[in-house]
Amino acid sequence: MSETTRDERKTLVLTGASRGIGHATVKRFSREGWRVITCSRQEFADNCPWPAGPEDHIRVDLSDPEDVGFAVSEIRQRLSANGNTLNALVNNAAISPKTEGGARMDSFKTPMHIWRDVFQVNFFAPIMLARGLFKELQNGKGSIVNVTSIVGSRVHPFAGTAYATSKAALNSLTREMAADFGPAGIRVNAIAPGEIETAILSPGTEEMIDDIPLRRLGQTAEVADVIYFLCSNQSSYVTGSELHINGGQHV
Ligand SMILES: NC(=O)c1ccc[n+]([C@@H]2O[C@H](COP(=O)([O-])OP(=O)(O)OC[C@H]3O[C@@H](n4cnc5c(N)ncnc54)[C@H](OP(=O)(O)O)[C@@H]3O)[C@@H](O)[C@H]2O)c1
Repeated sequence: MSETTRDERKTLVLTGASRGIGHATVKRFSREGWRVITCSRQEFADNCPWPAGPEDHIRVDLSDPEDVGFAVSEIRQRLSANGNTLNALVNNAAISPKTEGGARMDSFKTPMHIWRDVFQVNFFAPIMLARGLFKELQNGKGSIVNVTSIVGSRVHPFAGTAYATSKAALNSLTREMAADFGPAGIRVNAIAPGEIETAILSPGTEEMIDDIPLRRLGQTAEVADVIYFLCSNQSSYVTGSELHINGGQHV
């Protein structure tokens, strides 16, 4: 695209697009004609199933605060093609470390450096990105969606303490951000998935199905649909909410 031609598509910045829920979200927004700028540790893969090229992918390690700073500058530069306008930011990337044997890391077993990494990726990176992209989000009357989790509000057999508390903190941050960003016309919501069929799930998750009222795991496309709803005008008066996407597991 030449520098003089403005890209009129709505634009989403999405972290953690290479797999799972993020992958389904890129597909959903691309189908609706959005430009999607993806951020993850991996380089752009040529076999990506959506039309965007490497110019819409940013390699960033969200566990490194300095790298997040570089990514913010890079994203702002790339948004100049859209008149410095950003319509949505989805903070989806997260880590959920387990012990070497794959067991849950509880409050005793979680080394402090892991606790810090989890909070940097799952909690600090979202606010760093949102603050760094504030002007562009304001220009686009944008919507921020923070991906939390059902484990932010209850102890879970597989999810570790650091992961669970980072998600609880991200939900509180969503409320605070909704209050702070609202006057600029920016909506901030969270979605809290339950057991969604992705690589993050631990062996044994199937046994939890009996406790889920809808008696099945969720699909990534079902999560992407709710994210899309929260970034569309259909939810223009919704902010500061955390929506459960868990087949009723929270009841
Ligand atoms: N699956 C579930 O059942 C479930 C339930 C509740 C909540 N969630 C939440 O939903 C979101 C997506 O989950 P998922 O299951 O789809 O996750 P996933 O398959 O594990 O994918 C995680 C994504 O985050 C990226 N990522 C991880 N560490 C990163 C880092 N340091 N820097 C940049 N990117 C990083 C990964 O990309 P790279 O490896 O390329 O960096 C990947 O694209 C997460 O916030 C998760 O907590 C999932």
